[in-house]
Amino acid sequence: MGLIQRLHQRLRPARLRHLERHVLEVRDLACLKQAFAWDAEPLLEGAHLHAYAYPEDLNQRRLRDAEALGAACRNARARVLVEIGTGEGYATALMARNAPDGIVHTVNIPPEEIAAGGRLVTGSPERAAIGSHYRACGLTNIVQILANTLTWEPAIGVIDVAFIDGCHDADFVFNDTRKLLNRCRSGSLVLWHDFAPSLRRTYGWIDEVCRGVDRLYAARLLRGPVYHLRDSWVGLYRVP
Ligand SMILES: C[S@@+](CC[C@H](N)C(=O)[O-])C[C@H]1O[C@@H](n2cnc3c(N)ncnc32)[C@H](O)[C@@H]1O
Repeated sequence: MGLIQRLHQRLRPARLRHLERHVLEVRDLACLKQAFAWDAEPLLEGAHLHAYAYPEDLNQRRLRDAEALGAACRNARARVLVEIGTGEGYATALMARNAPDGIVHTVNIPPEEIAAGGRLVTGSPERAAIGSHYRACGLTNIVQILANTLTWEPAIGVIDVAFIDGCHDADFVFNDTRKLLNRCRSGSLVLWHDFAPSLRRTYGWIDEVCRGVDRLYAARLLRGPVYHLRDSWVGLYRVP
C-alpha cells in the first residue's frame, strides 16, 4: 500500500459492515455480567491496572480491560484457557487467578523469531522477560509456550476461554482466532484485546484488530454479537 493510500486509510478507514451490525456496546461490568448471566466478580489486583500510558487510560481503560477478561475467566469456570501473546504476563496472571481450577496456556513468539511474526508485534520481550510478571507472582497453573502463532497448532484440548493479544495484523487476528475457534465448544468465550471500533482512526493496531474480527464475520466463522465493554479495549464473543 502506497503512502497516499495509507494516509487515506487512516483518515477515512473503510467501513466494517459486519462490526456495524454485530458490536454491542455494554455500559459497565454489571451490564456485562447480566448479558452473560454471570454472578461472580472478577479478582483484580495490581497497581498496573491504574497505570497511565494512553489518553484512554484516564477513563480506567486498564481496569475495564481487566474486568472483562477477569470476569470471563472467573465465571466460565474454565479448565482450558489460552492466551496468544504473553508479554510480561500481566493478563496471564489475571487469567490464572480467576481460573484457579484451570490451566492457562500462554503463547509468545521467541525473540529470535520476531522478524517472522508479522508487522504489528507490539512488543518483543527478551526471553527472560516473557512471563516474568506471572512467575514473580508464584502462580503455578500456567504453561508457557514459545512459538510463532503463524505455525503453532493449539493441541491443548477443548478450549473454554481464549484471549487473543499477539500480533495485531488483521491476518494474524483472523488466523489465530480461526485456529482457536476450531478447538472451542458451544459456550466457549473468545476475547480480543485492542478491540475498540471507535478508536480505529486513532490507533493503527486497533484498526487492524477490528478488521480481523470483521473478516471473521465475513467468513461466517462468527455469528451473533461481539460485546464491547465501554472504555475498555476488549471485545468478547460467546461461541453459539
Ligand atoms: C501486547 S503484548 C501481550 C500483552 C499481554 N497479553 C498482557 O496483556 O499482559 C503482545 C505479545 O505478543 C507477542 N507476539 C507478537 N507476534 C506474535 C506471534 N506471531 N506469535 C506469538 N506471539 C507473538 C509479542 O512478542 C508480545 O509479547
